[in-house]
Amino acid sequence: MVRMHAIICTLVLTILSVSTLTSSTSLEFGFYKTTCPSAEAIVRRAVNKAVSLNPGIAAGLIRLHFHDCFVRGCDGSVLLDNTPGHPSEKDHPANNPSLRGFEVIDEAKAQIEAVCPKTVSCADILAFAARDSTRKVSGGIYYSVPSGRRDGRISISDEVTQNLLPPTTEAEKLISHFGTKGLSADEMVTLSGAHSIGVSHCSSFSKRLYSFNDTFSQDPSMDPKFAMFLKSRCPLPEPQSQVQVQSIDPTVVFDGSTPNDLDNKYYMRLKNHRGLLTSDQTLYDSDLTKPMVLRNARHAAIWRVKFAKAMVHMGSIGVSTGAQGEIREHCSVVNSY
Ligand code: HEM
Ligand SMILES: *[C@@H]1O[C@H](CO)[C@@H](O)[C@H](O)[C@H]1NC(C)=O
Repeated sequence: MVRMHAIICTLVLTILSVSTLTSSTSLEFGFYKTTCPSAEAIVRRAVNKAVSLNPGIAAGLIRLHFHDCFVRGCDGSVLLDNTPGHPSEKDHPANNPSLRGFEVIDEAKAQIEAVCPKTVSCADILAFAARDSTRKVSGGIYYSVPSGRRDGRISISDEVTQNLLPPTTEAEKLISHFGTKGLSADEMVTLSGAHSIGVSHCSSFSKRLYSFNDTFSQDPSMDPKFAMFLKSRCPLPEPQSQVQVQSIDPTVVFDGSTPNDLDNKYYMRLKNHRGLLTSDQTLYDSDLTKPMVLRNARHAAIWRVKFAKAMVHMGSIGVSTGAQGEIREHCSVVNSY
C-alpha cells in the first residue's frame, strides 16, 4: 500500500514537472493579463500614433520583427546597441542604415516600465508592434500574439550574415533557408508579401539594372519599362564625383501603386515582372514557388489568413521562456546586474 502510494506520488510529480517544463518552454496567449494588463494596449497606441504620422514605420516594425526572429530567435537581439569593440546586429549592412522603428519600441517600453516595471520583454513588445503594424496597414489582418518571450543578452553583427540572406537569393535557396528556421516554402512565399509595403535602397537591386551578368547588363527577368523607371530613380554614380556620390543611396517604394497597403498586389506585380528584388521575382520565375505566387495573387482572403498564421509561426522561432534570459529595462542595452 505504501509502495503503491509512492508510485502514484512519483507519477504525479513526473506529470507535474513535465507540464511545468512544457509551460515554461512555450508562449501563451494573454501572458501579461495579470502582471501587466495594459501592455498590449500601450504598444497598440504607440504604433498607431507613429504609423499615422509616417506609414513607413509599419514596414519598419514588421521587418524589425523578422530580423529579430531570424537571428538568435525572437529575443530582442536586433534592438541591442553595440558595446566598445563588439558590433551588434544593428551595425550589419543588412540592418544599417535601413532598419527603422526603434524609437516606437523605446517609447512603448518606457510607458510600460512606468506601469509595470521589469515585467514585459522587448522581444514581446516587438512582436506586438509587428502585429499592430500589420493591422493598421492591411485593412484588418489581425491576429493574437502568444507571448512570454524572454530577452537575450547577446547580439553579434557577424551572425546576421549567415542568418539573413541577401536580396540576390533565388527560390531554391530561400526555401532551404526558411526551412532551417522551421518555416515552409509556402510560409516563405506568404511572408514575402510584406514586400508590398515600405521601401528599398537602390543598392539592394541596382545590380539588376546596370551590371547583371556577362551577357546582360540588365536583368532580363525584369519588365524593361520598370527597369527604365528604376534607373531614373537610381542613377549610376558619376565617375568623376565618385567619393561624394557613393554615400547617396536613394530609396524606392516596393509597390508604386499602393506603397502603404499590405496587400496581395505584390503577387500580381511578380506576374508582371515588376518584383523589385531578385528574391521577389524568383518566386514567380521558379517552378518551385510559382503555383504559390499564383494562388496568393488570386485569393486575397486566403493569403491574408496565411499571412497572419505565418507571422505567429515566425514569432515563435527559437524563443526563450520561463527563467531563461531576462526582461530588459531598456531595449537597447542588457541589464547591468
Ligand atoms: C525572403 C527573404 C527576404 C529578403 C532577401 C529580404 C530582403 C529585403 C531587402 C533587401 C529590403 C530593402 C532594404 C533596403 O535596402 O532598404 C527589404 C525590405 C523589407 N522587408 Fe524584406 N526580405 C525578405 C523577407 C522578408 C520577410 C519575411 C518580411 C516580413 C514578414 C520582410 C519585410 C520587409 C519589409 C516590411 C521591408 C520594407 C522596410 C522599410 O520600408 O523600412 N522581408 N527586405
Ligand atoms: C545571364 O543571365 C541569364 C538570365 O538569367 C542566363 O540565362 C545566362 O546564362 C547568364 N549568363 C552568364 C554569363 O552568366
